[in-house]
Amino acid sequence: MSEQTILVCGGAGFIGANFVRLVLERGLGRVVVLDKLTYAGNALNVPKDPRVAFVRGDIADRELLQALLREHGPRWVVNFAAETHVDRSIDSPDPFLHSNVVGTFQLLEAIRHWWYSAPKARREAFRFLQVSTDEVYGSIPEGETASEGSPYRPSSPYAASKAAGDHFVLAYHATYRLPVLLTHSSNNFGPYQYPEKLIPLMILNALDGRDLPIYGDGGNVRDWLYVTDHCEALLLVLERGEIGARYNIGGGQQKTNLEVVDAICAVVQELLPASRNAQLFERGLSTYEELKRFVVDRPGHDRRYALDFGYIRRELGWEPRHDFLSGLRATVRWYAEHRDWCRAVLAGRYDRERLGLGRPV
Ligand SMILES: NC(=O)c1ccc[n+]([C@@H]2O[C@H](COP(=O)([O-])OP(=O)(O)OC[C@H]3O[C@@H](n4cnc5c(N)ncnc54)[C@H](O)[C@@H]3O)[C@@H](O)[C@H]2O)c1
Repeated sequence: MSEQTILVCGGAGFIGANFVRLVLERGLGRVVVLDKLTYAGNALNVPKDPRVAFVRGDIADRELLQALLREHGPRWVVNFAAETHVDRSIDSPDPFLHSNVVGTFQLLEAIRHWWYSAPKARREAFRFLQVSTDEVYGSIPEGETASEGSPYRPSSPYAASKAAGDHFVLAYHATYRLPVLLTHSSNNFGPYQYPEKLIPLMILNALDGRDLPIYGDGGNVRDWLYVTDHCEALLLVLERGEIGARYNIGGGQQKTNLEVVDAICAVVQELLPASRNAQLFERGLSTYEELKRFVVDRPGHDRRYALDFGYIRRELGWEPRHDFLSGLRATVRWYAEHRDWCRAVLAGRYDRERLGLGRPV
């Protein structure tokens, strides 16, 4: 393949699937998706397009990575591949260590060996982008925001594993001059998100007239970012970002979980009024709000995430384009129109049960 090939690790997951679509829309070249297809990844998410090749495999498989790098000689490698659900990291941290730490390390090793021996022009054009999270900064006190210079204070096994992966990425730049880029985005929402995360789970439960479980007092704050805005930021970072730099990518839309659930109830009501929802009727309920239930909190639940993303704004001129409500309307519509997708990705894998109470599995 040509130098316009992009290797997208984890491209069958939520953000990766949206990123691959954006790359195709922009005509940026061919894409090789490498994905292990865990419960959260699905071949259904990979676009059927002659410019896309799909390889099922693990980023921790260094030999496979080396073969793919030799075969495709990618211009960019973007790593989305990770275990991503905080609740699952509380119940069972091992896969998080495997994919997010060992996997990132093996990927870096494969790239290092290939990159050293690549022709000069290829070496100079190459970029490796590690997609990380704002959760590495831990809970941020009211009135403050985390900037790229803020200390790492991960609380959950998920955040700790992402933080460890980040440190390897930065160490490979400092030690081997590997041309890396590192981004920390806030909470994403939009199409193709596995329905275990807050927004898609609440949308499906509301549509089905099932309880809407809210952790603790519902006061935990997240900064919401529509997924395509995130993907546009990643492309800008790849195209114009400074090698070795870190970029925060936020939505600038802080909401408590309770506010998010209330907004979902209102948007679902616009699409399918409660009076026409048979499942609600069967339960004797007349509004979506009546489905809300406060449940025991997640252990170690970070109270507040808030990002300062002034650096990417100033340096690369990026701004999120979607406000929370317009993004939410598009998301609710997508889930309502893709019930087959929801059934297919959930079948035999997850029945919307409560996770993350720390019961070993
Ligand atoms: N979703 C968010 O709100 C958010 C916010 C900030 C950062 N991130 C980061 O963005 C990246 C993508 O997140 P997402 O929400 O799309 O996650 P996701 O869980 O939807 O998708 C992850 C994908 O990685 C694949 N995968 C997991 N382990 C793998 C391995 N060892 N080898 C190959 N593939 C593997 C899975 O099969 C899945 O397709 C992650 O690194 C995550 O930490 C996500």
